Amino acid sequence: MSNNIVLECNNIWKKIGHHVIVNDVSLLLRQGDILGFIGPNGAGKTTTIKLMLGLQFFNGGSVKIGGYDLRKDFVSAISNVGAIIENPDLYMYMSGYENLKICTKLYGLSEDRILEVAKLVGLENRIHDKVKKYSLGMRQRLGIAQAIIHRPKVLILDEPMNGLDPEGIKDLKVLLEKLASEENMAILVSSHILSELENFCNRICILVKGKIVQDLKIDEIKEKLANLNYILEVNRIDLHEILYHFEVIDENHIKINTTKDKLANILKTLLLNDVDIYEIKKEVNSLEDVFLKVTKDISND
Ligand SMILES: Nc1ncnc2c1ncn2[C@@H]1O[C@H](COP(=O)(O)OP(=O)(O)OP(=O)(O)O)[C@@H](O)[C@H]1O
Ligand SMILES: [Mg+2]
Repeated sequence: MSNNIVLECNNIWKKIGHHVIVNDVSLLLRQGDILGFIGPNGAGKTTTIKLMLGLQFFNGGSVKIGGYDLRKDFVSAISNVGAIIENPDLYMYMSGYENLKICTKLYGLSEDRILEVAKLVGLENRIHDKVKKYSLGMRQRLGIAQAIIHRPKVLILDEPMNGLDPEGIKDLKVLLEKLASEENMAILVSSHILSELENFCNRICILVKGKIVQDLKIDEIKEKLANLNYILEVNRIDLHEILYHFEVIDENHIKINTTKDKLANILKTLLLNDVDIYEIKKEVNSLEDVFLKVTKDISND
């Protein structure tokens, strides 16, 4: 394995009937990566994930996990990955502990691993409760415990934030960040909502109609996020002698595209020039705009 690459997906494609569902998709995951796999409904996220896990046959391309070719060395490849597709498979009438015990038996692991992994996902105090008493967020974390019990290098989660409340989403993000940084796992998380993923992934891939249309690194994401539009409600708009770049919206509102740091100086300048500011609104971030534009352009093809 070179450069800590743990998952390599090379030009895979999948055809069902006459439809190409996954079109020449290539992805790389390194240890410690958290990759956001974004796309609108029907883009092919779940299908791509199923292909990477050997749950469906691909018509072309290749997949390597932990350095092993999925087709040539299936058992070794698959032992390096843990996944949840859509929802975790759990026995509701059993406790979390009993659910995990089944996994230790399957993998031939010692029972000590159950409490270790329960602690890792923050379920140690509730592990003996029945799963039917768990919240959705707790079930999701138990699912992750199942998926990582055999210490895989790669964790793949298909829409894990679906249905979680903001608190549950926050807890899940903290857990995934911990798994990436402390356990050195590579994590792929899919979602159709970009804002759910942008502040904790180090890379974002956007999939539209089975094709990857954007693959952005964290620096590029930050760059795109740095410039924001601010709408200011002011008492006058004859500001050309005070400000260089701004757009007039109406007689009481102007729009400024700038960074957070520069905004502070702009506001000082305005106040020093006796401009009253009644309200400052931040527009939807530009990465979401990029995503919407890209998906809309491609959908209209
Ligand atoms: N077995 C199948 N037979 C025919 N078409 C299929 C099959 N499985 C998936 N598709 C089609 O493939 C496309 C991609 O589906 P997929 O479920 O992978 O998308 P997705 O990005 O996961 O969507 P969602 O956000 O809704 O989960 C869809 O148009 C779907 O209708
Ligand atoms: Mg899906």
